[in-house]
Amino acid sequence: MENGANISEEALRRRTFAIISHPDAGKTSLTEKFLLYAGAIQDAGSVRARAGQRSATSDWMEMERQRGISISSTVLQFPYGDHVFNLLDTPGHRDFSEDTYRVLAAVDAVIMVLDTAKGIEAQTLKLFNVCRSRNLPVLTFFNKFDRPGRDPLELLDEVEQQIGLRATPATWPVGQPGDFRGTIDRRTGLFTKYTRTARGAAEAPEEIIDAERAAAEEGDAWKVALDSCSLLDAIEANVDLPSFLAGKSTPVFVGSALTNFGVRALLDAVAELAPPPLPRFDIAENERVLESPFSGFVFKIQANMDPNHRDRLAFARVCSGHFERGMDIECTRSGRAVGTKYVTTAFGNDRETIEEAFPGDIIGLVNAGDLRIGDTIYAGKKVEFPGVPRFAPEVFASARPLDRSKIKQFRKGIEQLDQEGVVQVLRDLDFGDTEPVLAAVGVLQFEVFAYRLSSEFSAPTEIISSPYQAMRITDKASADRLRQIGGIRILYRSDNEMVALFENKYRLQRLEKDEPELTLKLVFDGQPDS
Ligand code: G4P
Repeated sequence: MENGANISEEALRRRTFAIISHPDAGKTSLTEKFLLYAGAIQDAGSVRARAGQRSATSDWMEMERQRGISISSTVLQFPYGDHVFNLLDTPGHRDFSEDTYRVLAAVDAVIMVLDTAKGIEAQTLKLFNVCRSRNLPVLTFFNKFDRPGRDPLELLDEVEQQIGLRATPATWPVGQPGDFRGTIDRRTGLFTKYTRTARGAAEAPEEIIDAERAAAEEGDAWKVALDSCSLLDAIEANVDLPSFLAGKSTPVFVGSALTNFGVRALLDAVAELAPPPLPRFDIAENERVLESPFSGFVFKIQANMDPNHRDRLAFARVCSGHFERGMDIECTRSGRAVGTKYVTTAFGNDRETIEEAFPGDIIGLVNAGDLRIGDTIYAGKKVEFPGVPRFAPEVFASARPLDRSKIKQFRKGIEQLDQEGVVQVLRDLDFGDTEPVLAAVGVLQFEVFAYRLSSEFSAPTEIISSPYQAMRITDKASADRLRQIGGIRILYRSDNEMVALFENKYRLQRLEKDEPELTLKLVFDGQPDS
């Protein structure tokens, strides 16, 4: 079991990917239909129902249910044919794009779901920019083709114009949105005719039909589809594996998660086109080959997912080797041993203990208290992977305990939520721990922070918005100068970085121009829109 050949074989079967979409485009529905087609669930409806039941298992997920947003991400592992798929969920709301970035650091490919009636929406663009900064291969799914929507040729153009990926349809619809009969496979020219099932609860029957019969049965809809296909042939908009893998073109699939049309073709494409785990590079840019001893990195920390188990999970992506429960591993940053006796995977909220894992898999280490986001864990030869960068915060607030007798709980909660990366916690060494400044990408992060402090740590907290507009990382010498200028505050982040907060963005720009010798580092250069 413990040989290199087995590790590379297992890695080759893995597909580790995420679905990104604007809220409501159909990410949850598509996830559910993937599980249906993979045979992991018998009856579609259970995942969405499960989402509705979340409040029973977790208080703070109640908040996301009420708000209709997805804050937590889960990992689904399921077999599909000879493959093992690891599907990582990503939050849909823009305020949580930093969480999305962390998840995308752990995947090898992405499915971008668009609502055919709406095309590229604001959040699709924002999330896509995160993919671009990581050069991830992207498969595109035009969803909701069962109802009236836009011309798919126009949508292809929009993908090219707005996100700059060459759109190469793998399948093409027969019938307009709202009158959707099936899809043509552009490689084979065969027509797959779909039949709806009630509520899309079971797989949609598929019939593969040759061109002659399709022409006779589908009439004008077939002609229109063929015309479009000839146009696509003429401009050579054909699926091209090397440019897809390089993040330059995107194979496009058309379908409907609701009626299950096109779901199997998309899953097959994940198996056929999406890359298996590849060796990762360490900070010195050396490859850690897949067959090396175990290594991985932590991309997400989540505590108190279930109030019945007050615990803390560190989710790590396996980068190399064979992970076995109970094995000895170490954290590169702290040099300390990491417990691997309790390791779980999460299928929605149902946890299962896992005994082993291979490159591409996600492991949830239970109560590995020392671990932080971005940490490398390893066995055998020491390795350090690049960390997961923080986003430049755009909103700021201070947090004050409402009940002074709960100060201990307040501190504990802040420390925990800081480690989870819910917000960035900044401290003034002169004031200690009583009124930290919080920095975030979006205000919803503050709401989650306050809600969790109150519900999980019994420390009701007041969030008072702060007048700052920007943050830069600085150093001691520059801080001495910055302190002389009004409207700037110097604080410390928990990773010991010294940061400067600016009340006025324009003054910051001016300062960068007038005093270029000052250290004013943008928190994360790769961030979209920063
Ligand atoms: P999200 O996770 O991206 O936010 O989207 P989600 O799957 O929750 O879908 C949002 C809404 O769009 C849901 O309707 C869902 O049923 C619908 N939907 C998803 N895929 C399709 C599709 O292919 N065709 C059509 N017509 N609708 C689709 P809802 O009314 O919010 O919920 P529900 O009452 O259907 O459960």
